[in-house]
Amino acid sequence: MGRKIKITDTTLRDGHQSLWATRMRTEDMLPILDKMDAVGFYSLEVWGGATFDSCLRYLNEDPWERLALIREGVKNTKLQMLLRGQNILGYKHYPDDILTRFIEKAIEHGIDIIRIFDALNDVRNMQKAIEVTKRAGGIAEGTVVYTISPVHDIAHYISTAKELVGLGCDQICLKDMAGILKPYLAKELVTQMKAALDVPIHIHTHMTSGMGNMMYMQAIEAGVDIIDTASAPLAMGTSQPATGPIVATLEGTPYDPGFDANLLSEIAEYFEGVKVKYPESKLVDKSVDINVLKYQVPGGMLSNFRKQLEGQLDKLPAVLAEVPQVRKDLGYPPLVTPSSQMVGAQSVLNVLNGERYKMVTNEVKNYLKGYYGTPPGAIEEDFRRSIIGDAEVITVRPAELLEPGFEEAKKAIADYMEKEEDVLSYAAFPQVAEKFLKQRQTKKYKVNFETLEQNEKEGNDGVHPI
Ligand code: CO
Repeated sequence: MGRKIKITDTTLRDGHQSLWATRMRTEDMLPILDKMDAVGFYSLEVWGGATFDSCLRYLNEDPWERLALIREGVKNTKLQMLLRGQNILGYKHYPDDILTRFIEKAIEHGIDIIRIFDALNDVRNMQKAIEVTKRAGGIAEGTVVYTISPVHDIAHYISTAKELVGLGCDQICLKDMAGILKPYLAKELVTQMKAALDVPIHIHTHMTSGMGNMMYMQAIEAGVDIIDTASAPLAMGTSQPATGPIVATLEGTPYDPGFDANLLSEIAEYFEGVKVKYPESKLVDKSVDINVLKYQVPGGMLSNFRKQLEGQLDKLPAVLAEVPQVRKDLGYPPLVTPSSQMVGAQSVLNVLNGERYKMVTNEVKNYLKGYYGTPPGAIEEDFRRSIIGDAEVITVRPAELLEPGFEEAKKAIADYMEKEEDVLSYAAFPQVAEKFLKQRQTKKYKVNFETLEQNEKEGNDGVHPI
């Protein structure tokens, strides 16, 4: 019984997204890539999730350039990214033409595996991404998002996974983004998934509740094929379990991935050194958060609440208590981007207004009109009508109703565009990308101005093409 476990290293995506507010810069990734490449990881998760937005918004970096540079440094190991299905890397549905070009470009720049998820486990929102990934030569990892609710049972996860395999997925990810999947349930779930499916199963968790390592042990014994871990300085707390202890645990067993423990130590030592550059890492509390089990509210959502409730933190317990009610009203969406933000913001409004749904966010209205897909559980029709009146409720795949957006985006940034990737950055995050592209342009003018001075000194004729 048993076989070698494959491991995905998440340090350069989920690791710093979970612990350093997604702030790690490319220059701190490049020097360690050859060592990470030499370990023998199944893949390195290095792109997608919040990293794209963070590059443009906070780091003044081109995320496409980051990907190309990482690809240059990683010769042997597969590169992996996280894609929010039809939401690409944002918070709303994008038209199919943008999604298609985005995936094609990501694969062209070196992505091998795309983990595709939808917050509602609505496979229609993953369908196009799966199709394009396959066509472009990538490995499509269809994702089943794990949550706890009266409508989420093992049968739901199995049937969702089967549908994803039916759509052409090469493997399935069981994504426990809040770290609430209990070890013995994981054993049951993985056992049944393995029996029902012919493709590899990849499991993802966070150490938030403290159960992650135990959960992995049970999943491994039940036959899971691939697990996600991170280098020690970027592991534990709200991040993934650490690679070292798991590898040590598996050593000498049939599951032994055969990694060099010294190499893992050298990598950890490198990130320990890098850590001092990031003030965000000092705010991290790696102790176990029992609230995640009590309220199912993941760490990121809790810190959002603290921000939204500034000055009236005494309301936090009431907001936490409101979350399950809002979730129930909305048909139990799993709490993951973008539904976590939607449920969170509405819960805050309900508490601060002292009355439920006195004010309703546009996101909740659109959700109730069907623009995010089909909710996992039924929604009371009276409740729905009390919020959206007679408005039409759509039942088609939401992106069917979106007009193509690429040409329009291209026109909008014609003055700053250097490559097709710029258009995709703009389409994904218009304001943030526009600012980034404008700044880049200004820098170029400055360079040309310097060249101009240089040329004048040298007695050139002053013709300076930009
Ligand atoms: Co995660």
